[in-house]
Amino acid sequence: EKGAYEFFMLKEIDEQPAVIRTLQQKYINEDGSLQIEDDLKNAIDGADRLYIVAAGTSYHAGLVGKSLFEKLAGIPTEVHIASEFGYNPPLLSEKPFFIFLTQSGETADSREVLDKVNQWGYKSLTITNVPNSTLSREANYTMLLHAGPEIAVASTKAYTAQMTAEAILAKSLGMHKRTQAAADFELGSELTKVANAIQSLVDQKDVAEKMAQKYLSTSRNAFYIGRGLDYQTAIEAALKLKEVSYVQTEGFAAGELKHGTISLIEKGTPVIAIITDEKTAGLTRSNEQEVISRGANVINVVSENLATKEDQIILPKVHELLTPLAAIIPAQLLAYYTSKERGYDVDKPRNLAKSVTVE
Ligand code: M6R
Repeated sequence: EKGAYEFFMLKEIDEQPAVIRTLQQKYINEDGSLQIEDDLKNAIDGADRLYIVAAGTSYHAGLVGKSLFEKLAGIPTEVHIASEFGYNPPLLSEKPFFIFLTQSGETADSREVLDKVNQWGYKSLTITNVPNSTLSREANYTMLLHAGPEIAVASTKAYTAQMTAEAILAKSLGMHKRTQAAADFELGSELTKVANAIQSLVDQKDVAEKMAQKYLSTSRNAFYIGRGLDYQTAIEAALKLKEVSYVQTEGFAAGELKHGTISLIEKGTPVIAIITDEKTAGLTRSNEQEVISRGANVINVVSENLATKEDQIILPKVHELLTPLAAIIPAQLLAYYTSKERGYDVDKPRNLAKSVTVE
């Protein structure tokens, strides 16, 4: 039920701190150990490479998962768009293990790949929000997102839940493999910081609302830029804005601006920069100067430790591997308010279905 909310999307954005706390309760024991079945850990332990397969927002969560699995568990990871993999599978490693990320568990493009994986005889895990969904039943293992039903077509809380689940699994695999990175990563307290950060961001909705009114209410197009994990956030942020507001939005690696996209910048073009990585913050800031000098309106979404007085949206500091969980929140809010401002049905954007069950 929507209760006092006009749209489910905002309700679901607001639920994200609670979703993270639920995942902590479901998967993290009092002593800090994790509730991941031994069978699953052993199956992945025998693999030389992870293949994450997903569509849309879930694919974007997979891109973030790659960093988590590689950095915490030391397992090389590839991320594939399900529809591309289906008919043009890549050359596989000797011992692949497949992870299907899917909110609904019913996405046809992903089902098509799982059918192939089963025919080939490889093991798989489905991470999903829907128990007993098709992809859950047809994979060897299931990990549930416990996000509660997601009604708005635009995925918000399922995305943050997927990244949280990946962090839990990556930490658990890393502990199993005894990596130093996993031992050093204090998952429980880091997730608590993330939940608090999201809470403080959703408590300041009016900031995003004003930005949406000022910069996005009439613009034809918009750009999100970032580097590293901020680039992964930028792609998801762009999908969010375009799908609910119909503003043509592109998310791309900030370093790529000068290789083509900068030609699209005109007076008043909104460019939203995501900056959470100390190593590359200066580079992204200089990319911004290039677009500002061509007339762009820049909105900065910056971690508090890297922020200046001029930055519009400040993100509370969280662990460097978990920054997308905080950085996506202002983007979800910008998408929501832009759609609302333009008078659209935020929860049911035109031409889209919640679950895409045709290829
Ligand atoms: O149910 P799934 O996670 O498999 O769905 C995949 C995509 O259709 C989905 O993430 C879609 O991109 C979102 N509605 C976008 O917000």
